[in-house]
Amino acid sequence: MVPHQKIPLPEERPGRARPEGERPGGARPEGRTAPPQLPPVIGHRGAAASAPENTLAGLRRAKALGCRWVEFDVRLTGDGALVLCHDSRLDRTTNGSGLVSATSLAAVRELDAGTWFDPGFAGERVPTLDEALLLASELDLGANIEIKSDRGREYATAAAVATTVQRLRGRAPAVLVSSFLLAALAALRDLAPQIPRGALFRSIPRGWGEVAHGIGCMMIGSDHRRLRPRRIAAIRAAGYRLSAYTVNDPARARLLFDWGVTSVFSDAPDILCAVSAGHIRTLARQGAMR
Ligand code: G3P
Ligand code: MG
Repeated sequence: MVPHQKIPLPEERPGRARPEGERPGGARPEGRTAPPQLPPVIGHRGAAASAPENTLAGLRRAKALGCRWVEFDVRLTGDGALVLCHDSRLDRTTNGSGLVSATSLAAVRELDAGTWFDPGFAGERVPTLDEALLLASELDLGANIEIKSDRGREYATAAAVATTVQRLRGRAPAVLVSSFLLAALAALRDLAPQIPRGALFRSIPRGWGEVAHGIGCMMIGSDHRRLRPRRIAAIRAAGYRLSAYTVNDPARARLLFDWGVTSVFSDAPDILCAVSAGHIRTLARQGAMR
């Protein structure tokens, strides 16, 4: 298991994770990590509408659909390996069953993670975080790693993510690590402060500012159905990026962008391309793309 110790972190690779400048409406609060350039549309779980979620095929599909960044979920196997899987159980997205956290990496790797989605994806495996990051790098895709964890494994999961990103230094793409689990984000902040962080909420709470400041995150994410213009404006004025999940309707994406949302996670990123092109023009007018 990963030891509880401070992990020295690499600098970002030049040209891979470019820090944004301060934007109108809010300076970056002191101590916040330099944010990567997140595009308006991020492939959700790869490109979950057209390829099995959280697989290497999904990353390739996202690239083919025009994505510059993808989001995927990671969690620990029973023997402490990081694999891509959204649910705590293997049942929905593989031909196996049981908790990921109670299954060895070797056993997870035996499973088929593609057939449930479409027989054309038969033989697709559950990828490790290493494999996903290396493929993302090869495809020139930024990677939003979302930490999932069973209760009590938040620290170990964050530590494993930090170790992996550090070990792949120079070979990994630009990364952002996000989570609904504030304990995981706090652990990552302490272990690897240079890795950019994002705090996810179902509904952004009244005390979001304190949480975001405490975690030192650069991005806040929310269920798009629970976002309201006033809260969006406050978050943007404080200098945070604001991402909404999961948005597959172009009209909804346009409205969210108009409200000030900076990125949407989409299962169907290609469908949102035209909307995002307009959004980029709006951001450029606002000087937010520098
Ligand atoms: O990171 C955005 C989104 O992935 C969060 O929800 O449940 O799809 O992981 P979920
Ligand atoms: Mg996710």
